[in-house]
Amino acid sequence: MNEQIVILDFGSQYTQVIARRIRECNVYSSILPYNTPAAEIQRLAPRGLILSGGPSSVYSKEAPLPDRALFKLGIPVLGICFGVQVLAHFLGGKVEKGDKREYGKGTLTVTDERCVLFRNLPKELQVWNSHGDKLTRLPKDFVVVGTTDNSDYAAIEHLERKLFGIQFHPEVVHTPRGKEIISNFVHGVCGCGRNWNMRSYIEQAVDQLRAQVGKERVILGLSGGVDSSVAAALIHRALGDQLTCIFVNNGLLRAREAETVQEVFGRNFQIKLLYEDASALFLRKLKGVSDPERKRKVIGKTFIDVFQTATRRAGKARFLAQGTLYPDVIESVPIAGNPASMIKSHHNVGGLPKGMKFELVEPLRCLFKDEVRQLGLELGLPKEIVYRQPFPGPGLAVRCLGPVDSSKLKILRLADAIVVEEMKSAGWYYKTWQTFAVLLPVRSVGVQGDERTYDYTVAIRAVESQDGMTADWVRLPYELLEKISLRITNEVKGFNRVVFDLTSKPPGTIEWE
Ligand code: XMP
Repeated sequence: MNEQIVILDFGSQYTQVIARRIRECNVYSSILPYNTPAAEIQRLAPRGLILSGGPSSVYSKEAPLPDRALFKLGIPVLGICFGVQVLAHFLGGKVEKGDKREYGKGTLTVTDERCVLFRNLPKELQVWNSHGDKLTRLPKDFVVVGTTDNSDYAAIEHLERKLFGIQFHPEVVHTPRGKEIISNFVHGVCGCGRNWNMRSYIEQAVDQLRAQVGKERVILGLSGGVDSSVAAALIHRALGDQLTCIFVNNGLLRAREAETVQEVFGRNFQIKLLYEDASALFLRKLKGVSDPERKRKVIGKTFIDVFQTATRRAGKARFLAQGTLYPDVIESVPIAGNPASMIKSHHNVGGLPKGMKFELVEPLRCLFKDEVRQLGLELGLPKEIVYRQPFPGPGLAVRCLGPVDSSKLKILRLADAIVVEEMKSAGWYYKTWQTFAVLLPVRSVGVQGDERTYDYTVAIRAVESQDGMTADWVRLPYELLEKISLRITNEVKGFNRVVFDLTSKPPGTIEWE
């Protein structure tokens, strides 16, 4: 069992960032809802607790408040922003509405240099604030260890009980030394070692997988994306030939995708791979379908049918593996004003189709995406897979506007491959979230050689994003765009015009359909 820090989530948009910062300190962290009973937390025996920020006021009637028995467990606590107000509220301090909101950059003056939280840090620290309420009376037996212009109690501690509170956010990049503050808490105060890394995770996961699966067989739907690929490599490391991967070619893949998957998993890793070429079936079902949501439904349903048939061909298996990640399983806290609780990605809602009676194996369930990538490298997967850009399940169908057919897909694939190749050689590919070509079924007149053409248009899309929820178009150099445009119009018969998409999200979406 890993040493861990538990974060109680009061609805902050940064809760997951706190968890990631702690893991970057090589300490395992988990996120639980704010109202998790103290007894349950005690059972987990965390080395420390962090109370996250949140959008509420402790004095409001609907305030999310934790089990007060938490403070009697003898576990070190760090309250961040709303979290310090929770500490104050329970332990005899007072929180009131501030005269002005403290929002954005500020300077913290460390008033007690012996404070463990600020060990090895300068006396003046740039910090990032985002709060309206503030402490106006210290909780009982606490002392002040830091102040800002706007707050006399910006950092407080009760050394003996190992209770700490800070009004600012150490987890965000705008608090440049914030990671050291978090490290001081987890290592200095809580005494955690540095045991959490992907090499040790492999050993642990291998043991767990062997214990869970025994001698049974596991099926995994391999898409070629990062998550299913890493899950496959990990399960294969643990269970070898007990794992069978199913790869469905839906005819909507990019150039060389099916070949790469077969090369990497079939030949290099020697994983049992069932390659299901269903491209003709998918294209038949998609014939004449132009509505984007209808396309998604047709593709989703066809995929399930094909996958189900393939699982039967793969032989009897008790387990189905999935590349579920930690952000998909964290229970979101339904607190008004918490954007994270409102926005639910439509893409992660998977679930097993009815009639498929498998038990689930989810070896990435407690990992964040960046950890999954590290794990992938550790397991020997190539960089093209580990740092692959996200690719939507419905594939090129949502990048080929209007009805899809094999001739349009063929030229789209060629153009897309040129975009990717040029982005890679100019060093831009791995710096962008997604870069791709879109076929616009708009024909325009062109002239190539002495010939008049009347061909389709290709749009180039390049966006930066953290999570796909919002995105900004990337300012690619003109020289690069010029090269892409020249190559496409020269090499791909069927396109005579190239345009660049200057739309961010919002108001646009990343995909065109
Ligand atoms: P949008 O187009 O909604 O895309 O801005 C946000 C992110 O989600 C991906 N995307 C999908 N992924 N199935 C998927 O698995 C889908 O139907 C789908 N639609 C969009 C898109 O590539 C981007 O990363």
